[in-house]
Amino acid sequence: MRAAVLYEPNTPLVIEEISTRKPAAREVLIKTAYAGLCHSDLHFMEGLYPHPLPAVLGHESAGMVEQVGSEVSYVKPGDHVITCLSVFCGTCEMCTSGRPTLCIDTDVKLPPGVARRLEWEKEQQLHTFLNLSSFGEQMLVHENAVVKIRRDMPLDKAALIGCGVITGFGAATNTAKVGWGENVAVIGCGGVGMAAVEGAHIAGAGRVIAIDTNPVKLQLAAKLGATDLIDASRVDPVEAVMELTGGVHHAIECLGLKKTAEQSFQMLAIGGTATIVGMVPFGEKLEFHGFDFLRGRKVQGSSMGSNRFRTDMPRLIELYMQGRLHLDDWISDVIRLDQINEGFDNMKAGNVMRSVIKFD
Ligand SMILES: NC(=O)c1ccc[n+]([C@@H]2O[C@H](COP(=O)([O-])OP(=O)(O)OC[C@H]3O[C@@H](n4cnc5c(N)ncnc54)[C@H](O)[C@@H]3O)[C@@H](O)[C@H]2O)c1
Ligand SMILES: [Zn+2]
Ligand SMILES: [Zn+2]
Repeated sequence: MRAAVLYEPNTPLVIEEISTRKPAAREVLIKTAYAGLCHSDLHFMEGLYPHPLPAVLGHESAGMVEQVGSEVSYVKPGDHVITCLSVFCGTCEMCTSGRPTLCIDTDVKLPPGVARRLEWEKEQQLHTFLNLSSFGEQMLVHENAVVKIRRDMPLDKAALIGCGVITGFGAATNTAKVGWGENVAVIGCGGVGMAAVEGAHIAGAGRVIAIDTNPVKLQLAAKLGATDLIDASRVDPVEAVMELTGGVHHAIECLGLKKTAEQSFQMLAIGGTATIVGMVPFGEKLEFHGFDFLRGRKVQGSSMGSNRFRTDMPRLIELYMQGRLHLDDWISDVIRLDQINEGFDNMKAGNVMRSVIKFD
């Protein structure tokens, strides 16, 4: 099969001929149908986050089950699935206390550099990324990294649910638990932030304030439920939010910069909560005014929208099928695997909402 390999940070991905080993007892081999390009992949490509290399990146995907290991009963060949990097064991403290995205079982949720699932003719170990490696024609994954979905769900939109949608929607609904009537600001309305806008809207938020520097993203946010738009390249977003609301109940940062993470805290009302979704460059520290914590303001992280993806993803599909979750405007470009570097160039230039790779 063909896959896109990252050899070194800040070098283009290279399409290589590789293979997977046979599924072990609890593994599933998937024929990848679509894989979305997420900004998290780009962080690793730019070396802002460390990962053993060479590796096949990609973690937002959907496809068809091809083969299953001897102990797999959850899926069978032919089933349509969405993958999720939040692979869970189901028995550790995090899983059994209702937080499977934080699963700590390293035999199931393999740490970077441990998986031996990908093979090629070179001597060097080829690494799996985030237990998935979606930028390949096939994926070999643990059975608890997939959710079965209905067959009438289009697989391109299904792929988006695998990271961007669940991360942003879940940040608003599962992590922040936005209540009806509460005011929400979303900083950065790319794939993840747009889903946070939709999540806040569907949760019944009062004001949903979309903040971005790209007017095209802001227009789409308005269509998907934002009540107010702030162009952060023209005005100070903190001042603008304060003027509109006096401070929001929830600010959701979906970008990953020190500056915007700090802004998310600065725009809170008394008692408000900032939820940081964006991946702030590894090692960078955030600064907050200590006094603000005395007025009950909080900061929290959110991993993959604090999902329970086997439950959440079929529900998101139901909302999509009813026309309540809008994903049809999300895909700006459908590309081939060999156009992947152009796809990331477009992401860097901010030209696209989401590019998805279509596999044959
Ligand atoms: N916590 C998690 O589990 C998790 C999961 C997935 C992605 N992420 C992270 O979420 C972030 C967003 O990912 P994405 O794929 O949506 O990225 P994206 O590139 O699609 O979107 C980023 C958006 O931010 C906007 N922007 C740029 N500068 C801005 C500024 N100063 N103020 C406001 N907006 C600005 C851009 O125009 C763009 O719309 C990334 O850091 C990614 O790594 C985190
Ligand atoms: Zn992602
Ligand atoms: Zn676990």
